[in-house]
Amino acid sequence: MTGNHYGRLKADAASIALAAKLLHAGELVAFPTETVYGLGAAALNSEAVVKIFEAKQRPFFDPLIVHIGDATWANELAEVSALGQSLMQAFWPGPLTLVLPRKKIVPDLVTSGLSDVALRVPAHLVAQELLHVSGIAIAAPSANLFGQLSPTRAEHVERFLGEKVALILDGGPCFVGVESTIVKVHERTLEILRPGAITMAQLQGITGVNVTLVTKAPVIASGMLDSHYAPRTPLYLKEKLTQADADTKTAALFFQQPAYNLAASFQISRVLSPSGKVSEAAQNLFSFLHELDTAGCQRILAEHVSEDGIGLAIMNRLHKAAVKD
Ligand code: TXA
Ligand code: MG
Repeated sequence: MTGNHYGRLKADAASIALAAKLLHAGELVAFPTETVYGLGAAALNSEAVVKIFEAKQRPFFDPLIVHIGDATWANELAEVSALGQSLMQAFWPGPLTLVLPRKKIVPDLVTSGLSDVALRVPAHLVAQELLHVSGIAIAAPSANLFGQLSPTRAEHVERFLGEKVALILDGGPCFVGVESTIVKVHERTLEILRPGAITMAQLQGITGVNVTLVTKAPVIASGMLDSHYAPRTPLYLKEKLTQADADTKTAALFFQQPAYNLAASFQISRVLSPSGKVSEAAQNLFSFLHELDTAGCQRILAEHVSEDGIGLAIMNRLHKAAVKD
């Protein structure tokens, strides 16, 4: 990068004001959202947005989510239908991204030339403040290298993108832990392009329309690629880990508390939620995968989690992180 480099700063009024200034100057700023950390640039400034693709080594066919301060900002960027409006009212701020017909003001680079734009109002206070202090829409993918583990702590961003961003706002660990639910809004139906914290049942309950989960389709969201969210250590998924899986070269990711002897038979292990709560498992998912990935093991074995609620999103990420046969 060309300009100044401020490293990782604790998010407070001063660092947020600096971040806003850097965004206006066309620089990259990483910031916390409730889901994962985002790598942000001024959304309407193509020269700034191109830096996101360079820093992430992200292919240009993969469009970005535009973060906005509140639902009223959406009208400048997209055509908002009544169905879209009802979702905004129910779920924003929060981990729901809406894919809506774009307006011309949105650069092609942001949408990869698609006729829709993805919008979301993040619930994290630091993200909220950054949006309102800067007063501009922020294009931001997850702040990781393309295809790799998502960042749920500022340290993850620092490790993988450190020199490539002007400033990393440190707002502590993300409290949801997996990326937003992405929903394409049609006239009378909804399509989930990527599962997340907002569930199909919630979407159906609020709108009363038909909601489908897209599993196989032309790739229009990178979260739809078969391989994504992957650690560098080969990861394999198993329904349940047993003593037969254990050896000293293997890292284990348990869903719930295993028997002590079992955990101790692996080189290293982590338990996503001792009591089997999916929300806690989601918070820990990427952080624990980062830890297991850097432990020097030959493989990571991850156990299935319950597919209730956000558990569906966790399994979606684990399937994509896993080695394909
Ligand atoms: O929780 C999140 O959504 C996080 C935080 C930072 O907000 N962001 C995130 O961004 O996960 P990213 O780029 O890692 O994933 C966004 C996904 C991509 O797979 C992208 O292809 C899809 O959103 N997307 C963006 N614009 C789209 C569009 N116009 N139509 C369909 N999919 C779109
Ligand atoms: Mg991502």
